[in-house]
Amino acid sequence: MSLFIDSSKISEIKKYHKLGIVSGVTTNPTIMVKDGVTGGMNGIKDRSIEIANMVSPAPVSVEVLSNEKEEMLSQAKEFASWAPNINIKITIHGVNGEIENLEVIHLLEKKHDIRVNVTAMMSVQQCYLAATAGASYVSIFGGRVNNMGYNSCTEISKLRDLLDKFNLESKIIVGSTREVINIVDWLNSGAHIVTVPPKFIQSMIVHPYTKETVKMFLDDAKKLTDLLA
Ligand code: E4P
Repeated sequence: MSLFIDSSKISEIKKYHKLGIVSGVTTNPTIMVKDGVTGGMNGIKDRSIEIANMVSPAPVSVEVLSNEKEEMLSQAKEFASWAPNINIKITIHGVNGEIENLEVIHLLEKKHDIRVNVTAMMSVQQCYLAATAGASYVSIFGGRVNNMGYNSCTEISKLRDLLDKFNLESKIIVGSTREVINIVDWLNSGAHIVTVPPKFIQSMIVHPYTKETVKMFLDDAKKLTDLLA
């Protein structure tokens, strides 16, 4: 369970999931807008169910559309009812620092048995508290941490040490991938999962020198078959 795909585009998810290298899907409202999800709540529901059914039993994260407590709770219950492998993304706090989100996370996990992926986190401190609140997944935005001038690998390593030390079962997801090198660096730093936009999965696989080497093999294989003719 190390690579998730950070996309809501059916064709992209299908392309990489069938290779057997993707073990989950993460979405968010920004990704869904970029990927052309329309039709309001029905459109979100249809796309989320289509993704969940396509990759079942792999986990699929769908983010609530509000930061109002009761709306987050009701949307989380609704979204989770769409498929057994859908978990719910909730940001660590609101746009004005509203900390009630942790209460919502705790209630969903402990009282409603709904898996939560706590998202939009930028520090080990935020992720640690989300884990103590009972989050199934704690998502730290590695690329954004780096952009702020901090070392994402250090944050991830510290977080993994804390989760292991206190026997917290949350899984670290690192998102906000900006470069192919991020992925292995973050996994080596202790991330359980890195969620990767499709373009970077392609770049992890295809290497220009490999293409050149394969051409050499095939050219010489043809010579051999010609010699056999
Ligand atoms: C995980 O799914 C995050 O929502 C996503 O990776 C954030 O990426 P961004 O920092 O490019 O918005």
